[in-house]
Amino acid sequence: MIKRIVTLAGDGIGPEIMDSALAVLQAASQETDFDYTNDKQLFGGSAIDQTGYALPKDTLEACQSADAILLAAIGGPRWMNAQQTPEKGLLALRKALQLYANIRPIKVADSLVHLSPLKAEIVTGTDFVVVRELTSGIYFGEPREKRTTEAFDTNRYTVTEIERLIRQAFTIARGRKKHVTSVDKANVLATSQLWREVAERVAKDYPDCTLEHQYVDSAAMKLVTNPTSFDVIVTENLFGDILSDEGSVLPGTLGVLPSASHSVNGSSLYEPIHGSAPDIAGQNRANPVSMILSVAMMLRQSFQEVALANQIETACYATMAKGILTPDLGGTATTTSMTEAIIDELNKVPTIV
Ligand code: NAD
Ligand code: IPM
Ligand code: MN
Repeated sequence: MIKRIVTLAGDGIGPEIMDSALAVLQAASQETDFDYTNDKQLFGGSAIDQTGYALPKDTLEACQSADAILLAAIGGPRWMNAQQTPEKGLLALRKALQLYANIRPIKVADSLVHLSPLKAEIVTGTDFVVVRELTSGIYFGEPREKRTTEAFDTNRYTVTEIERLIRQAFTIARGRKKHVTSVDKANVLATSQLWREVAERVAKDYPDCTLEHQYVDSAAMKLVTNPTSFDVIVTENLFGDILSDEGSVLPGTLGVLPSASHSVNGSSLYEPIHGSAPDIAGQNRANPVSMILSVAMMLRQSFQEVALANQIETACYATMAKGILTPDLGGTATTTSMTEAIIDELNKVPTIV
């Protein structure tokens, strides 16, 4: 069966890293049984420019019927104060596809420990997953309004929304070190108090796993002082957004971190955790690894192509371990030369059987 992958290259460095990731996918899959088509769709600022909408109807329909979606990044100063913004399009897409579970793995390979701004003894062995709620909370709660002299947002969570995410976290933990850290602000927020109650109740169904609660301020501190104490972090939309960017400090750059977003039974979306990096767009200096690893996550999680995914991940880490790095990690490689080096490395990995 030929898989239909919808690709949303978006804005800024988006098209550059999407080209890289698709080149790697093509190289990795060419002599295998994995067959796919690339359905390119407009999304974000470039879609606003061409159609007036950040999430055009055709794009949404293509995504709804896709086998998987790859998104690079959207946004930029040009569209910041417009009525239609790329970010609103991104939130609308997440909501329309009900992509409630955003999985953001943060791992520091031993060979790359020296690239972290943190001391080696702190960062060595870091390997955790942030499970971020993506379709509710303060990002979507009503009422919300910006008036002249005041503005307000609403943080709202239902038991159903919390429960399905906590279950995802425990399911992921079962395939790992079986430890879940639920992050909240239950000393202040009502939503967090409900969150904690639901987490406690759901944990009883996973007696082989441990559950720990942490306040978000303390978790933010522990992420950089004791990152190896985490296995699976589960948290609400806003906290997850912030903590996952903080987590990117550990491997030394946002440019190597992929993510997957899942719904109950629709197509999944794979994207780097970073944005469109307008400061380096068009300069051929973006790190393509986050997008390439997003492709690997897609192969593993949507298509069960585990060997292909492993091959791509191994090639990325081997290339970086050799010191071939883009400027965000202190190197001089360009997006294109890094991509070529990863493809070369791919050709050295034994072909899958
Ligand atoms: P950003 O993630 O785009 O960039 C933050 C910093 O990290 C910048 O210095 C950038 O150069 C660097 N960086 C990010 N990705 C990199 C890569 N692959 N290689 C090398 N360096 C990289 O965050 P920002 O500057 O706060 O936001 C820029 C725009 O992106 C905004 O419009 C924002 O709303 C949007 N955004 C989009 C997404 C998304 O598409 N999912 C995510 C985050 C931010
Ligand atoms: C992310 C981004 C988005 C978010 C923005 C661009 C709406 O920061 O994917 O992490 O806040 O979720
Ligand atoms: Mn973010």
